[in-house]
Amino acid sequence: MLVRILREMFFGPGRSRKAETVAAPGENPLAGWFSNHTGRYVSKWDHYLDIYHRHFARFRGRSPVVLEVGVFHGGSLEMWHDYFGPGCRLYAVDNDPRCKAFEDEKTKIMIGDQADRGFLAQLRMEVPRADILVDDGGHFMNQQIATFEELYRHVADDGVYLCEDLHTSYWEDFGGGYRKAGSFVEFSKALIDQLNAWHSREPDRFQSNDFTRATYCMHYYDSVLVIEKRPMSRPRKIVAGRPSF
Ligand SMILES: C[S@@+](CC[C@H](N)C(=O)[O-])C[C@H]1O[C@@H](n2cnc3c(N)ncnc32)[C@H](O)[C@@H]1O
Repeated sequence: MLVRILREMFFGPGRSRKAETVAAPGENPLAGWFSNHTGRYVSKWDHYLDIYHRHFARFRGRSPVVLEVGVFHGGSLEMWHDYFGPGCRLYAVDNDPRCKAFEDEKTKIMIGDQADRGFLAQLRMEVPRADILVDDGGHFMNQQIATFEELYRHVADDGVYLCEDLHTSYWEDFGGGYRKAGSFVEFSKALIDQLNAWHSREPDRFQSNDFTRATYCMHYYDSVLVIEKRPMSRPRKIVAGRPSF
């Protein structure tokens, strides 16, 4: 506690710090990697590492296709390769042409604007369906929404879609604002309705759609939404035991 108070006195709340303060190395390999990393620059909010490990662990060592939007200095590319193992096929998008320099035999970098639906349609043709998609791009509302609308279908049937830094949904300079129509958080609240649409009694207003049939669950964390896909069909009520009345 004292260490935390002193750290916050120096660095301020929420500023970067070593990941071993969140999860001991060994519990979460990402924490160990982060605290020992001396390669390319990467910056994450500390609690993201546990979220990644909770939803991505089942893909480790299974040669997943990972698609990340947002490259910056390339540090997260190194993190994903280390985490998922040598078979990982990594694809990444950035609108900064300098990021192309991070391309290698295991990593394909595509330069383009994540809000450009034409670019995303082209990407769907060039990249295999992803087991995991991480949106860590520009964090503007139009970017997050266009990327979701164009690429959710391009995530594998049992894959995971993760959008991070959702706090920009509350920041005016990113197009957000508290309960502002058109923010990514407000957009995602409509997805909650679709998740539950099997039970709609107002078919004229909402009914099951592709998202309902493709989505198993949605997990909200501070600043992060994780959506896990699974082919779904209309739920059936099951009963067991003797009634008491
Ligand atoms: C937060 S950084 C990515 C950090 C990286 N994932 C990491 O963890 O090391 C965001 C990146 O998104 C890129 N970006 C910003 N707007 C974009 C857009 N409209 N389309 C694609 N990339 C964009 C920026 O150039 C920047 O490199």
